[in-house]
Amino acid sequence: MDTVIVTGGASGIGAAIVRLAGEQGLNPVVWDLSPGGMVVDTRDRAAVQAALAEVGPARYLVNNAGPASSSALGFGDGLIGTAGSVELVTSAWLATNPPDGAAVVNVASVAGNLVGTDSAWYSAGKAAIAGYTRHLATRIAPRVRANAVAPGFIETPRMAGFADSPLGRSLIERNPMRRAGRPEDVAAAVLFLLSPAAAYVNGVLLPVDGGWTVSQ
Ligand SMILES: NC(=O)c1ccc[n+]([C@@H]2O[C@H](COP(=O)([O-])OP(=O)(O)OC[C@H]3O[C@@H](n4cnc5c(N)ncnc54)[C@H](O)[C@@H]3O)[C@@H](O)[C@H]2O)c1
Repeated sequence: MDTVIVTGGASGIGAAIVRLAGEQGLNPVVWDLSPGGMVVDTRDRAAVQAALAEVGPARYLVNNAGPASSSALGFGDGLIGTAGSVELVTSAWLATNPPDGAAVVNVASVAGNLVGTDSAWYSAGKAAIAGYTRHLATRIAPRVRANAVAPGFIETPRMAGFADSPLGRSLIERNPMRRAGRPEDVAAAVLFLLSPAAAYVNGVLLPVDGGWTVSQ
């Protein structure tokens, strides 16, 4: 059974990825700050390396963990929490020589490359994840494929109540799909990008936003 490491897998989008991965016959391993799987801070190199040694060979990696854009972080710490942790985990995983057919999917955001947000470090960090994904795609293929998803507004615990706010309502009204995204919408895209069905898909940033960005 192939293992998929899902960072931030205890909540929201990550938890949906874990559920779908299990349904599709993978062995999902959760790394999160919250208990429920392995407690691993993705910014902590020693913790990541210890967890990798415990997990053993993992064919798939999903870099989903990251701070909420509302977190009170300075620019440097924000970049470390978003893009820095993705690079740290990916480099450590690559050093384990993942098996043939390996793939990584990084969770960026429409706030990175497609729209602006109030948080400087969140937009910059998510854009950096997309750039890092393109870097990986050109450097580690054909051994490993690297892709990213850019979710729009997805209803997860960190977004609780947002759908009922004036901004949340306006985002939903302006979305061609007339609803917010669900964690399962993102999970389906991530599992597709990991799967052999995406064997020739490498280096994309796939928006999962109901068509919101193209309708602006
Ligand atoms: N919800 C949205 O609207 C939305 C939109 C675009 C992108 N995203 C991205 O999707 C990802 C998941 O977000 P979510 O909405 O499911 O959030 P969430 O808060 O429901 O879950 C995030 C999980 O990541 C964990 N986590 C945070 N920092 C960590 C760290 N350093 N090490 C290990 N685990 C850590 C948290 O403990 C939590 O369980 C994030 O990268 C987020 O930026 C979310």
